Amino acid sequence: MIVQQLSARNFRGYERVELSIGERVTVVTGDNGAGKTNLLEALFFGCVGRSCRTRVDAQTIRFDQPVARVEVNGLEQMERHELAVAIDRQEGKTYFADGAKVDGLEAFEWRPPTTVFMPDRLELIKGAPGARRAHLDQFVAALWPARRQNRRSYAEALAQRNALLARGATPAQMDTWDHELARHGLALIADRRSAIETIESAFEMIGEELGLVGSPDIRYRTVSEVEDVEDFVDQLRQRHDSDINRGFTTFGPHRDEVVLRNEAREVRTYGSQGQQRLTLLSLLLAECEAITSLTSRRPLILLDDVMSELDATRRALLVDRVCTLGQVLVTATEVEHVPDHSAIDRVIAVKDGAVVG
Ligand SMILES: Nc1ncnc2c1ncn2[C@@H]1O[C@H](COP(=O)(O)OP(=O)(O)OP(=O)(O)O)[C@@H](O)[C@H]1O
Ligand SMILES: [Mg+2]
Repeated sequence: MIVQQLSARNFRGYERVELSIGERVTVVTGDNGAGKTNLLEALFFGCVGRSCRTRVDAQTIRFDQPVARVEVNGLEQMERHELAVAIDRQEGKTYFADGAKVDGLEAFEWRPPTTVFMPDRLELIKGAPGARRAHLDQFVAALWPARRQNRRSYAEALAQRNALLARGATPAQMDTWDHELARHGLALIADRRSAIETIESAFEMIGEELGLVGSPDIRYRTVSEVEDVEDFVDQLRQRHDSDINRGFTTFGPHRDEVVLRNEAREVRTYGSQGQQRLTLLSLLLAECEAITSLTSRRPLILLDDVMSELDATRRALLVDRVCTLGQVLVTATEVEHVPDHSAIDRVIAVKDGAVVG
């Protein structure tokens, strides 16, 4: 879906905002604290059904107000669609799709796949492996929605096996769940590997284009290098005693890692702040490229505060690239940081929680 309009009430600093969004690149400018990030967050909330900045929904409700509401509408295959979320301090969230109350927004495939670059998201690069696995699993689901089930089935088998371990079960009693874990584990590893394969070369290319000079690379590192289900089950059996001692399953893709490197060293450990930012940006854009080329969906790309660390040449390269990948919103404190580019179809100025131009 191409988003055409955003409207929000009592969302963060915005009492009321009604905006039309450009089809290609929209720039949001304003001083520090003016409300640029809040505007991107509102758009994300409307498209995804949650915040990209906090797990506490109520934080997004304007101070001293009981309810916030965000609405997004646009066109997909010539048809108009609308998404809305109401956030109530007391009652939680209510979702609407095309005017009808729904349980969540996930199921609506006309929604735009939404990607967000924000400084807070650096945790994805710097933090523990679990966040990168979860992100990769979401990317798998965005590329191949039907494969979402492999991840769920694996998590279910893992929970069951861990529960048995905690009760001190014998290998014979664990047999069924060992097989389930192995079957779904192999499927999950295959999905994750295929997803990484779709972005490998774009990640390297975009990374170099944006200024990661030392041959950036991405790969999937598995602790469970196995041939087939039987081999997987064997490995589980061999670890049975130590798993019982620890109380959890130590073999399987829930321990795997997405390794991002520059100059053959892990960016997570050795990268500078700037290199980590560029790595994150390259990863997200490479994913958008895969989504654009492998699905019929066009991503909505929200880039917060990305210009300040790039030089003028790279800023222009970035806009060149992103406008081919999807619909883009980009924030900047300094208007001069935004290149003069033909793909920019709208510039929005914000001040003190209101759109002023
Ligand atoms: N729930 C809320 N209700 C009202 N105002 C809020 C709420 N949450 C945050 N704010 C206000 O929003 C403002 C910050 O807005 P935002 O983060 O969008 O700024 P920004 O334009 O992105 O600034 P910067 O350039 O520094 O990133 C702060 O003044 C903050 O007090
Ligand atoms: Mg901001």
